Amino acid sequence: MSAAKSILILPGDGIGPEVMTEVRRVADKLTRTEAIDFDIGEARIGGAAIDADGVPVTEDTMARAQAADAVLLGAVGGPKWDDLPFAQKPERALLRLRKELGLFANLRPAIVFDPLVEASSLKPELVRGLDIMIVRELTGGVYFGEPRGIETLSDGERRGTNTQVYTTGEVRRVAAVAFDLAQKRDNRVTSVEKSNVMESGVLWREEVTRLHDSDYPGVELTHMYADNCAMQLVRQPKQFDVIVTDNLFGDMLSDEAAMLTGSLGMLPSASLGVADSRGRRKALYEPVHGSAPDIAGQGVANPLATLLSFAMMLRYSFDMDGAATRVESAVSRVLADGLRTADIMQDGATRVSTQQMGDALLAAMDDT
Ligand code: IPM
Ligand code: MG
Repeated sequence: MSAAKSILILPGDGIGPEVMTEVRRVADKLTRTEAIDFDIGEARIGGAAIDADGVPVTEDTMARAQAADAVLLGAVGGPKWDDLPFAQKPERALLRLRKELGLFANLRPAIVFDPLVEASSLKPELVRGLDIMIVRELTGGVYFGEPRGIETLSDGERRGTNTQVYTTGEVRRVAAVAFDLAQKRDNRVTSVEKSNVMESGVLWREEVTRLHDSDYPGVELTHMYADNCAMQLVRQPKQFDVIVTDNLFGDMLSDEAAMLTGSLGMLPSASLGVADSRGRRKALYEPVHGSAPDIAGQGVANPLATLLSFAMMLRYSFDMDGAATRVESAVSRVLADGLRTADIMQDGATRVSTQQMGDALLAAMDDT
C-alpha cells in the first residue's frame, strides 16, 4: 500500500457536518474495498470555530490545512454570525484558506445529470447533456486588491474602495489550467473579462492570447465580455466548454451556471494551488452550495455535491481515476433509480433522507 493520503475535513456550519458524515462512510468503503489508505483528520471552521475558538479559523487548523494532501470543506456561515464585523465573519476563514494555501484556480463544473434535466428552469433541450467547466481565478482581483477599505472624507462623505488588479503571472497560470483542462475535454476555451471598460481586462485578454499562441495553439480560444457571457449562459449554454475568468466575474457566472442545472445540491468544486517540484498541488474541495441553515440538522440535506467534491479530490489530488469514477457512477445510478433528496424532488421519485441517500450510494458502489 502506498503512503496514506492525508485529508483534513472541515465540516463547518449548517448542513456541512451532516453531509460530511456520508463522505466518511464512502471513504471507509474505499479503504475496505480498494485498500486505499486515508489518514483523515477533522477541524472546526467558520461559525463553529467562532463559537468554540473565537476566530473563524485557528492557526492550528491553518497549519494542518497546509500540511494535508487535500482539504475537504462542508460549508461556512449562517444567520447567527451575519452581524459580526467584516473581519470576523465565517467567510473570512474560506478566503484565508484560499489565499494562504495559494489556491488560485477554482474549478466549478456545471453538469446536468440526465435524470434531473427537468429541474432546470431552462427548456430541457437547452440543457440536456450540459457539461461546462468554469475556471475562476481565486486569489486575486477585487477580492484581495489594495487599496481597499472604507474611509471618511474631509467633507464628511464616506468612501468605499476596492481594487481590481491582475499581474501577468496571475493571468497566465490560471489560463494554463483552463487550457490544460480543455485539452482533456472538448478543446475549447472562452476567456471572459470586461476589456471594453477595464484595463485589467485588456491585460487579461492580451496575456491569455499570448499564452494561447505560444503554448496552446491547438486549443480553440474565444474572448467574451462578462455581461455577454452572462446572457449567453442562459441563451445557449451548450456553446461553452471551458470558461476562464477572474475572481468576481467567476463568482457570479458560476452561480448562474450552477442554476442552469437546477440543482445546486449536486455541484462540486475544486480549488488548486501551484504545483510543487513533484507536481503536487495544494487543494481544497467543497460543494458549491452553502450551509443552508434553514434545513440544517433535519437530515434532509443533499450529500451528493460533497460526495462529488470528494470524487474530484480522488481524481485531481490522488490520481485515482478509477475510484473517482466509481463514486460518480454510483451518483448517476441512484439518480437513475429515482432517489431524490428534498432539493431535487420530482413527481414519481422516491424522497430520501441524507443518510438514506448515503446508504443507496454505498450499495450502488458495489455494482460499479
Ligand atoms: C463562493 C462564495 C464565496 C465567494 C463567499 C462565501 C466568500 O460566494 O465561493 O462562490 O464570494 O467567493
Ligand atoms: Mg459565490
